[in-house]
Amino acid sequence: MNSTLIQLTARIADALSKIDATGAPMLQPSQDPKFGDYQCNAAMGLAKKLGKKPREVAQQIVDNLNVSDLCETPEIAGPGFINLRLKPAFVAASLAAIPSAPDGATDRVGFDPVDNAEVVAVDLSSPNLAKEMHVGHLRSTVIGDCVARVLEFQGHTVHRENHVGDWGTQFGMLVAYLRHTQPDVIKDPDSLEIGDLESFYVAAKARFDADEEFKTESRETVVALQQGDPVIRKIWQAFCNESLRHCHEIYDLLKVDLIDRGESFYAAGMEDVCDRLEKMRNSGESDAVQDSDGALCVFPGGFTTRDGDPLPMIVRKTDGGHNYATSDLATILHRVEKMNATRLVYVVGITQKQHFEMLFASARKIGWVGENVRLEHLAFGSLLSKTGRPFKTREGGTVKLRTLLDEAIARARGVIDKSDDASKYDDALSPDEIDRIANVVGLGAVKYFDLSHALASDYKFDLDHMLNLEGNTAPYMMYAYARVRSIGRKAEVDFAKLPASAPIILEHATELALAKKILRFAEILDTVARDLRPNVLTDYLYELSRTFSRFYDKKLGVRVINAETAELRTSRLRLCDLTARVLKLGLDLLGIETIEKM
Ligand code: ARG
Repeated sequence: MNSTLIQLTARIADALSKIDATGAPMLQPSQDPKFGDYQCNAAMGLAKKLGKKPREVAQQIVDNLNVSDLCETPEIAGPGFINLRLKPAFVAASLAAIPSAPDGATDRVGFDPVDNAEVVAVDLSSPNLAKEMHVGHLRSTVIGDCVARVLEFQGHTVHRENHVGDWGTQFGMLVAYLRHTQPDVIKDPDSLEIGDLESFYVAAKARFDADEEFKTESRETVVALQQGDPVIRKIWQAFCNESLRHCHEIYDLLKVDLIDRGESFYAAGMEDVCDRLEKMRNSGESDAVQDSDGALCVFPGGFTTRDGDPLPMIVRKTDGGHNYATSDLATILHRVEKMNATRLVYVVGITQKQHFEMLFASARKIGWVGENVRLEHLAFGSLLSKTGRPFKTREGGTVKLRTLLDEAIARARGVIDKSDDASKYDDALSPDEIDRIANVVGLGAVKYFDLSHALASDYKFDLDHMLNLEGNTAPYMMYAYARVRSIGRKAEVDFAKLPASAPIILEHATELALAKKILRFAEILDTVARDLRPNVLTDYLYELSRTFSRFYDKKLGVRVINAETAELRTSRLRLCDLTARVLKLGLDLLGIETIEKM
């Protein structure tokens, strides 16, 4: 079923066509319930075109608007806003139509997959290999996973691409360092034992920074790697495997699914990119492709150097080497031509804004990406330490992501241990259960906190805040879910077995408010899938749980378990069930698990 917003938008479009006005329906949810549930702002824009007063146009739209099955009589307000208020009967019928949760299968809460499914490539996580993942890799992993989940839920085919950096100078450096420290391994690569990759990397990097000759050697070694030297490749592979093994420990912990397809995967594709560009340059097919100081370049237009000269994207350096742009152009070709993706999403920090702007503009300019393909950079801000400074260890090094996650889990365990006083309850948690819950709460808190911030803004990693049971946090949301589920247990009903034919009754203001909020989930999903902004979903879930609290509040709300009549009891329990299901699904789309008892 389409969201209410889509249904109402169609009705407005209909009314506009009846008055021969071509314009967008401009319907949006109202900010304030005083003005109804939805507000149409089309009249103001049309008034000029039609040479009438906005209120007059609004009246004309209303006269031709057929919404009596969905809304109360529309009201015109202010300069010409049209306010629409949903009829309780429509809200009740829409919710009543949602089938009960299926036994065993995943609960889609009545949502069908979209009709126009696409192939989407989501570029997520994508650390540079050779070190362990550090705190800077959290956001891309968590945001990417959420975006992929939402798109998958909508029925799109999603390729979760872990575009790891495995083809750069850092590998030349590692191999060169090995040559100096363990010369025998170069003769017999099978005998390689890396040991602690992190300290090996740090030692190699120290030499790299201090020793010009070693730096040159490292660069030459990476060229040899890229040209296919078999021994170097073997060692390189061992380094990659070891590094990826670390990464996948984190992915397993976070339950994030992805496919490793790093820069090296596109080695042949990069040659192809240069061949194609050379042909374009030679044939003059596109004047965007030109040599500049011996480097093969694409000039996308619209970008300038500090001196105001056209700024190119260098695709093959003067020394013949490939770079980040080369691999990203090859990646685009792969995703568009081989995967047939029509939506390419890059979950990468905001510091790479210009790279993606130039990349996208170049790919369009040279005709490799057509109108039918969307290119999106989900640029996110930095993760800062609690004090608002860049994240560093006391010694000034990078903080491992693993350290951060372990700390969150440990802190969550502390909170649980405190609240779970074994001597007081018969059903105290077993140590295994505590472990599992600490994991779910700790990791859930980290993910939720990250996703609840607007993408582009920086945020401070504050465990106290993210583990707080009050406010827009994972523990609060998990608690809200567990509380709703516990109502079912107290009422001794199986939510899944509540009669789907029983009517939903919306007489009390808090019942109606809750029902409307649940109904809005469809719209929220559409918005998140369109704009790829996870915080829209966290905000919604938070509002939903607060609306539920008012509904269940002893003073403000209604009685559920001991409702006035059996009919009301069933209706209210169904509202509880729907709330729990939406919370669970919503959290699942954020990559967060729920707990039945808390
Ligand atoms: N490895 C890169 C980095 O750590 C991020 C890669 C993002 N994906 C891409 N297709 N460029 O900065």
